[in-house]
This record gives sequence, C-alpha cells and structure tokens, in this order.
Amino acid sequence: MSHHSPIGIFDSGFGGLTIFRKIRELMPQYDYIYLGDNARTPYGNRSFETVLKFTAEGVQFLFSQGCPLIIIACNTASAKALRSIQQQYLPKTYPERRVLGVIRPTVESIQDKTSTNTVALWGTSGTVSSQSFVLETAKHAPKVKLVQQACPLLVPLVEAGELEGTGLEYFIRKYWGQTEVQSPRIDTLLLACTHYPLLKKQIAKIIPRNINILSQDELVAPSLADYFKRHPEMESLVTTGGGCRYLTTDQCGHFDRLARIFMGQDISSEKIELKEVKLLDNPRHILLNADNESAPE
Ligand code: DGL
Repeated sequence: MSHHSPIGIFDSGFGGLTIFRKIRELMPQYDYIYLGDNARTPYGNRSFETVLKFTAEGVQFLFSQGCPLIIIACNTASAKALRSIQQQYLPKTYPERRVLGVIRPTVESIQDKTSTNTVALWGTSGTVSSQSFVLETAKHAPKVKLVQQACPLLVPLVEAGELEGTGLEYFIRKYWGQTEVQSPRIDTLLLACTHYPLLKKQIAKIIPRNINILSQDELVAPSLADYFKRHPEMESLVTTGGGCRYLTTDQCGHFDRLARIFMGQDISSEKIELKEVKLLDNPRHILLNADNESAPE
C-alpha cells in the first residue's frame, strides 16, 4: 500500500471509532487506516509507562503503513503518551510527520459553550488523574472551571454492548450524583471519553435538562478540517480516494461485530501484531513530561 498515504487513527480499541466516524463523514475524500489495540484495551487505568509504550507501538505501525498524520483518538493515550511522542519520539524518527491528540481540540471549543464557566468532565480514571484536561483548559479556555469525574464502569458497559437498561442507568445516576455535588454552577457536561458518545441519549434522559451535553466526536472532526486549512503542506501529503482499512490487534470477528455498532455499517477488519518500539533513553523524563499534553497546532 506504499502509494497510499492515509490518515492514521489510533485508539486503545473500539472507542476511537466514534471520533473516526465523524471525521470520515466530514472528510470522506481522504484515505484512512483505523487501528484499535483491542488485545490490550482498556488503557483507562494503566500506568503512564504502559500507555506510552502501547501508544508508541501503534503509532510506529501506522507510520510503517505510510501515514503522514496520525490522530490519537483516545483520551487516555492523548493524556498520557501524546506529549512524549510529539516531543521525544517524532523529532528523532519521523520529523516530517505529525501526531495529534483529542484533548486540545476538545478544550479549545468549550469556552463558548458554557454561560456559567463551569464544565463537568466525565472520563476514564487515567484521563482524570493525569490532569491533562485541567492543564489544557487553563491554557486554552482559562475562564472555565473544570469539575472532573472518573466513570470507570462506563467503558466496560459499552464494550459489553450494554447501551441501555437499568444497569447502565444505575451508573449514570451514580456518576452524575458524584459530579453535581462538586459545583452548583455546572451547566455543561463534556463527554471526554471515546465510548461515551454512544451513551449520550441515556445520559440526557437521566441528568437535569438544563445541562448541555458536549460530545467529543462532534468537536474533533471540525478541528481536524481546520488544521488542514492552516497546514496545507500536511493536507497535501494525504492521499484521496476514500479508502479505509480497519486493523485490530485481536480477533477480527469480535472487532467487526462491535465496530458495526460504532460505525453503523458493516466492517471487515484485518488482524495485525504490534512490535516493541525502542523509545527513549530516559523514561523518567518522559513520565515527568507526560501529563502536560499539548498538540503542536
Ligand atoms: N479510548 C479510551 C479513552 O477515550 C477509553 C477506553 C480505554 O480505557 O481504553 O479514554
């Protein structure tokens, strides 16, 4: 496939498909490769070192497939690995290629969505504890106060196909209860995990009507289109033709069944193996820098 230079989309598993779906709807002309590390999902409660190692392997594989640009469509990986990959891995190995995350484009669009300047964020434990959204909000939406709530059970429920029902409702109620006591001023709930857009309807049924729900999939695609306008040199490297490959590190049958729910169409995936990447000489330095995600746009 060397004549193809697709946009690479990387996620820990299925969740990034919510982001990818909107990107492809908005920009169907480009070639794409989606890679889900399903064999090792979820990343949500893994350490910085592990998330960085797994993400770097995914990025390396997508580069080997000719991608000039990769979107890390996973909040946990964006929070824990993106900064290190951008600052320490790319300059040495692929200085002319780019890797972008989902946190900065999300944060950049929240300022004008809240009138009380108080936004609640739901994410994985890893995303919340990394403080990446808080740091990025302070830089790009400084008036906004972010109230964070980890929702560790929502990803497993989605992965199990539990998109409605009393079990799911119980946890949405519980997490909202833990969220609303943190501030009476919350007027917006940001779904900062790839899986949560699939739960938007159920969440809207349970939380108060006056709370505006921001779904990350709707924020990232326009931001990528805007990136291409500002960086025509990157846009020109991506081939067009509308091709799309789906790769998984686990069983294709399972991937295809769940991907159908995320994409709303039949999917036929290929199984691949990720290889270890020699990262950097100073992993401690990586860890110290890893919680300060920022895309280079
Ligand atoms: N993709 C992850 C995220 O957006 C959720 C799934 C996982 O924990 O790996 O944070």
